[in-house]
Amino acid sequence: SLDIATLTRQTGLTTLDYGFVNTAATRSSITYIDGEQGILRYRGYPIEQIAQNSSFLETAWLLIYGELPSASELADFDEKIRRHTLLHEDLKHFFSAFPRNAHPMSVLSSAVSALSTFYEDSLSVSDPEQVELSTVRLLAKLPVIAAYAHKKSIGQAFLYPDNSLSFVDNFLRLNFGTYAEPYEVNPVVSKALERLLILHEDHEQNASTSTVRLVGSTQANMFASVSAGINALYGPLHGGANEAVLSMLGQIKESGESVQKYVERVKNKEEGVRLMGFGHRVYKNYDPRAKLVKESADEVLAALGVHDDLLDIAKELEQIALSDDYFKERKLYPNVDFYTGVIYKAMGFPTRMFTVLFAIGRLPGWIAHWREMNTDPATKIGRPQQLYVGSPARDFPTR
Ligand code: ACO
Repeated sequence: SLDIATLTRQTGLTTLDYGFVNTAATRSSITYIDGEQGILRYRGYPIEQIAQNSSFLETAWLLIYGELPSASELADFDEKIRRHTLLHEDLKHFFSAFPRNAHPMSVLSSAVSALSTFYEDSLSVSDPEQVELSTVRLLAKLPVIAAYAHKKSIGQAFLYPDNSLSFVDNFLRLNFGTYAEPYEVNPVVSKALERLLILHEDHEQNASTSTVRLVGSTQANMFASVSAGINALYGPLHGGANEAVLSMLGQIKESGESVQKYVERVKNKEEGVRLMGFGHRVYKNYDPRAKLVKESADEVLAALGVHDDLLDIAKELEQIALSDDYFKERKLYPNVDFYTGVIYKAMGFPTRMFTVLFAIGRLPGWIAHWREMNTDPATKIGRPQQLYVGSPARDFPTR
């Protein structure tokens, strides 16, 4: 039987597929999406049921190991992650070396890349114990790195993790606690953040996950691969959309222009004007995560007693867009990030931390895909083809 590489060589046929719209690069059993129906499942379980009943770490286990953990497996996993939250003291120097106004996504990817210099005992891609250790290290340390990037940007001292707290509560305290006074976690914020992180945990072959897989296909270690994934997530067409949505809503508010007018500018394709948080490569129906996030936005803001004009603007934008032919014809619906920013803002996170929160949420998916790829005997180094359209052969001028 002919493999695809031989077939390509023999026939000379190549598929030109900008953006990989119809090219599968792998088989995967982690996440199922039906974009036409608006269905998302992790390992077969509907996202709605997971968001209702699971925790961030239980969902991470499900994605990484394939089945739900037993109570003792989950307790053991949780305990291991708590024990690995500390960062090497020398790693903290990195935070002081960056300019104070450095974007926390750049700090995050750099610090994760640096992890491979501090933890050389878990760089193997084939030793299961080392893979396990880097899995736990990443899950434990990424939230701490993220919180330190935040603290640095606001000029406050880093706190040591409090490992008596749950994953999400520890993260909230590291971000909002100070040494000056005790910090009480608000259960409404904690529950809502856990839910948002769960909704972001995996989304099959999106740009950042594909990046993790592509880098990992060279047998680069997990820290290096995840660091590359963080950089891919940074862009405004991917994870950076949550930050971009809030800027867009803020601009509409500041300019005093009507929402309808903004929508007209989007439809006229004015340079740089898109409806951020709308549209998706795969969903041609309402993103099931966006539905859940929208519910959370109302609940969280009500529970915190916050009224935000930006939420009103977002709702008006959605209403106008959903009844407009331009958006209907192109099947453009709100995606997961249309409402997240409003919630993160109400929780007290600065806008520049929004994509960092996405990265913490997406980490289990990146790890699950990296591990699936590394144990799949069919894996080959990723190496796309191109169609050369440059100059034909020509002689270099003799001098
Ligand atoms: N606002 C206005 N028009 C849009 C939007 C949008 N947000 N998204 C797509 N369109 C239009 C395009 O202009 C194009 O119109 P045309 O056929 O007249 O040229 C048509 O819809 C198809 O759009 P493409 O860009 O070809 O769709 P693609 O699948 O390549 O892009 C993407 C998907 C990048 C998500 C796009 O919808 C977009 O830019 N959205 C805004 C950014 C965003 O929210 N990103 C987050 C994605 S989800 C995530 O990463 C968590």
